[in-house]
Amino acid sequence: MSPTLICDAVEWQELKGNVEEIKRKHLRDLMADVERCKSMMVEYDGIILDYSRQCADQATMEKLFKLAEAAHLTEKINRMYNGEHINSTEDRSVLHIALRAARDSVIHSDGRNVVPDVWHVIEKINDFSERVRSGSWVGATGKPLKDVIAVGIGGSFLGPLFVHTALQTDPEAAEFAKGRQLRFLANVDPVDVARSITGLNPETTLVVVVSKTFTTAETMLNARTLREWISDALGRQAIAKHMVAVSTNLKLVEQFGIDPNNAFAFWDWVGGRYSVCSAVGVLPLSLQYGFPIIEKFLDGARSIDDHFYSTSFDKNIPVLLGLLSVWNVSFHGFPARAILPYSQALEKFAPHIQQVSMESNGKGVSIDGIPLPFETGEIDFGEPGTNGQHSFYQLIHQGRVIPCDFIGVVKSQRPVYLKGEIVSNHDELMSNFFAQPDALAYGKSPEQLQSENVASHLIPHKTFSGNRPSLSLLLPSLSAYNVGQLLAIYEHRIAVEGFIWGINSFDQWGVELGKSLASQVRKQLNLSRISGKPIEGFNFSTTTLLSRYLQADTG
Ligand code: F6P
Repeated sequence: MSPTLICDAVEWQELKGNVEEIKRKHLRDLMADVERCKSMMVEYDGIILDYSRQCADQATMEKLFKLAEAAHLTEKINRMYNGEHINSTEDRSVLHIALRAARDSVIHSDGRNVVPDVWHVIEKINDFSERVRSGSWVGATGKPLKDVIAVGIGGSFLGPLFVHTALQTDPEAAEFAKGRQLRFLANVDPVDVARSITGLNPETTLVVVVSKTFTTAETMLNARTLREWISDALGRQAIAKHMVAVSTNLKLVEQFGIDPNNAFAFWDWVGGRYSVCSAVGVLPLSLQYGFPIIEKFLDGARSIDDHFYSTSFDKNIPVLLGLLSVWNVSFHGFPARAILPYSQALEKFAPHIQQVSMESNGKGVSIDGIPLPFETGEIDFGEPGTNGQHSFYQLIHQGRVIPCDFIGVVKSQRPVYLKGEIVSNHDELMSNFFAQPDALAYGKSPEQLQSENVASHLIPHKTFSGNRPSLSLLLPSLSAYNVGQLLAIYEHRIAVEGFIWGINSFDQWGVELGKSLASQVRKQLNLSRISGKPIEGFNFSTTTLLSRYLQADTG
C-alpha cells in the first residue's frame, strides 16, 4: 500500500469544517457553557489541565480523538514503548521512557531488556556522586571537588540546565546542594568559557564532558579548553581525577584522555533532546543535589509515562495537549506557542522546550519522505510571568494570535509574607496567572470602554478583541517530582503532535547543513591564518565578510 498523508483522511477534512464553525464563535460565549468547561478540565496525580479557553468545543474534541485514531496514535505510542525502530531514518528505537523505568520493568530494544543497563549506570552515578559529595573522591591535590562544570550543548545542556534551575530554589534540594556549585559551559564563545571558570579553582573543580556523539565541535573545543585549564594548573595526570564524561561513544571518550572507568554510558535509543533522564542530566544533577533527590525527579517523569501509556485520550494530559497543538497549528493556522510559567524557577523551561519541540517537529516531509502540504511544528518561545507581561504580552493581547500555555504552581518554593500584607508575593504572582487567560479569552469591547467614559479617540487603541486561546496547567508544587512530571508531559505532547502529523519527531537532519558549512569556513580560516592564502570558494558576500574578519587581529 502506498503511504498516505493524514491530511487526506476524512477525519482531517471534518476538522477543517469544524474550525470554520468555531471561528464564528467567541470564547466569551464558549466559556459561558459550564458543561463544556467541565468537560475540558482533567486532573492526574495532582496536576490540573484546564483547556476550556481553547477555541474548540466538545464536537472539536470528538473529532480530534477520531483524528488520533485515524493517525493510529495508540499503535504508535505502543510501538514507541515496545522499542520498535520508530526513528526510521536513523534506524533506532526511541526509549527515553526506559531511562526512568522501575528497576523490575522489562523494556526491549533489539531483543535486549535495556532496563538493567539503565540501572547499572544509575548505580554507578549514585556511587560516584556520593563519593564526590562526601569527599572520598578528591582532586589531584587532595582537596574535595565542590564545583562542577558540565560541558555540553543542545540536548546535552538545555534539559539539565532547566532541571537545575528549577531545583536550585526547592528547599529540600537546596539543602543537599549547600556549599556546592553546578555550572554549565555550552557556547563555544570564549565569553562563555570565561564565565564558566571565573572564580573557580581547578583544584576543587570536576569537569563533566557531556556529548552523545563526542564529536560535537563546540563541546570538544570547550572540553579541550578546560582540559588545558586543569593540566596547566595541576599537571596532565590530574585529568584522571578532574574530568569525567557522559557519552554513547566510549571509544572517543578514551581517546580524549578520560579514563573509561570515569565514563557514564547511554545509548543510541536516547535522542539528545530526550536525554535529561539519562546520565546527561542525572550525573551533573546528582553531583549537585545527591541521587535521592534526582530519583524523585525520575519518579515524577515515570508517573506521566504510565499515565500517557494507559489513559484514554479524553483524560490523557499529553494526548490532549498534543491534539490541541495540532488543532491550533494545522486548523487555526496559529504558527507560534508561548510557554509562560508563572514561576521564576521554571525560567529555563521554555528554552528547553524550544529544542525538544522545534528540533522534533520542525519537519517538511512525512516519515515516508513525502513533502507535506501542511505546516508542522510551532515556533515556541516564552518567559516566566510576570516578566513576560512587561515585555511581549502587548503583541499577544492586541497583535498576533498566539496560543499560550500558562503554567502555575499552587505552593511556592519560597513563600514570602510581608508584615501587614494579606496577599503574599506568591498570591500576587498567581493573581496574574489566573487573570491573563481570561483577559485573552474575553477581551474588552468598545461598548465596555464607552460605559467607562473612555475618550472616543482612544477606544480603538484600548479595545481588546479577545477570543485568544490559552490553556492552564496547575502543578501542586515545584518539587523534584513535579519537575519530572512537567518534563515528561511536554516530551510526550511533542511526540503526539509528530505521531498525528505523520512525521519523524526523533531525527534532526536539519541541523547538519550549517555544521558542514561551518567546517568549510573553519578550514579556510586555518589556511589563511597559517599561509596567508586569500579566502576562496565562497560567494561574494561571505568572502567579503570573512576577509574583513581576517584583516582584524581576532586570533
Ligand atoms: O546540533 C544539534 C544536536 O545534534 C542536538 O540534537 C544535540 O542535542 C546536540 O547537537 C549535541 O549533541 P551531542 O550530545 O552529540 O554533543
